[in-house]
Amino acid sequence: MSQNAYLPKLGRIAAIKEEVPGGRAIKTFRIEFVNGDGFEHDCGQCAMISVFGKGESMISIASAPHIKDYKQFSIMRVGRVTTALHDLNVGDVVGIRGPYGNKFPVKDWKGKNLIFIGGGCGLAPIWPVIQTAVNDRGQFGKISVFYGGRSSRDIMYKNELDKLKGDAEVHLSIDNQEEGWDGYCGFVPANVMSKTPSPENAIAITCGPPIMIKFVIQNLKELGFTDENIYTTIENKMKCGIGKCGRCNVGKDYVCVNGPVYSWAALKDLPQEY
Ligand SMILES: Cc1cc2nc3c(=O)[nH]c(=O)nc-3n(C[C@H](O)[C@H](O)[C@H](O)COP(=O)(O)OP(=O)(O)OC[C@H]3O[C@@H](n4cnc5c(N)ncnc54)[C@H](O)[C@@H]3O)c2cc1C
Ligand code: FES
Repeated sequence: MSQNAYLPKLGRIAAIKEEVPGGRAIKTFRIEFVNGDGFEHDCGQCAMISVFGKGESMISIASAPHIKDYKQFSIMRVGRVTTALHDLNVGDVVGIRGPYGNKFPVKDWKGKNLIFIGGGCGLAPIWPVIQTAVNDRGQFGKISVFYGGRSSRDIMYKNELDKLKGDAEVHLSIDNQEEGWDGYCGFVPANVMSKTPSPENAIAITCGPPIMIKFVIQNLKELGFTDENIYTTIENKMKCGIGKCGRCNVGKDYVCVNGPVYSWAALKDLPQEY
């Protein structure tokens, strides 16, 4: 008999890091599969994480595929399941099923300059690509990371971004001036424009709130990036994750199977249902 696709594997929370405090807090969970019964994944893929008795949520796998000992997830507390996840402790067991979705074509980007543009919790889905590029540093050109939060308290992966500075240009921003802040003040799309990254031999990868993505893409086009060289991810609500229930559709496209990673060339022709 074939295995039930909805049956999760078991994962134990090995570490929890508080990234961002407040009403829409973000925590990063490091999860190890119980008894080594896990799965491999590619950059950009996600997994359904379940809290028993509460439900399950689709979450991007925020650790790179070459990291085999655990999978990492950065989760914003917005509702029932994510609040239940935030209430868990190290040692607690959750369900994980996946991996789901397509992947960033990272192998095709060898030799190219990579420009990552993230906002809020949107650094998590692109973090595996950043980790992969840094791990294979000699295979890629210049790496630039633009990332912003509403305030300095909303910046996630602070230590990791700091460590990245040897391998990449890191341009952080917050929306409004704060005492002691020496990065950019203003929205992420404006920070990108102020540094005028060159489209020459470059790929831009952006993830964050839809309004940020909209203006980032507008600005990248103005800088001369082609639709084929701009990538993003979309987070339509998902239920089954395996192309059965129709919950995630954009037009006829099942985002859980054909997404969440899209080039702007592919996404701009789909109906605006994301
Ligand atoms: C491919 C994919 C990757 C994702 N990656 C991450 C991630 O890495 N980290 C993370 O924190 N979240 C991620 N999400 C979003 C996450 O799945 C939802 O926030 C979560 O399912 C909400 O569940 P809940 O039960 O806590 O909230 P609910 O109780 O279901 O909802 C609470 C509120 O949030 C809104 N909401 C719920 N889901 C979404 C959504 N997908 N988009 C917009 N609004 C929503 C609801 O309308 C409601 O207002 C991802 C979603 C997808 C589809
Ligand atoms: S989530 Fe069910 S079809 Fe995509």
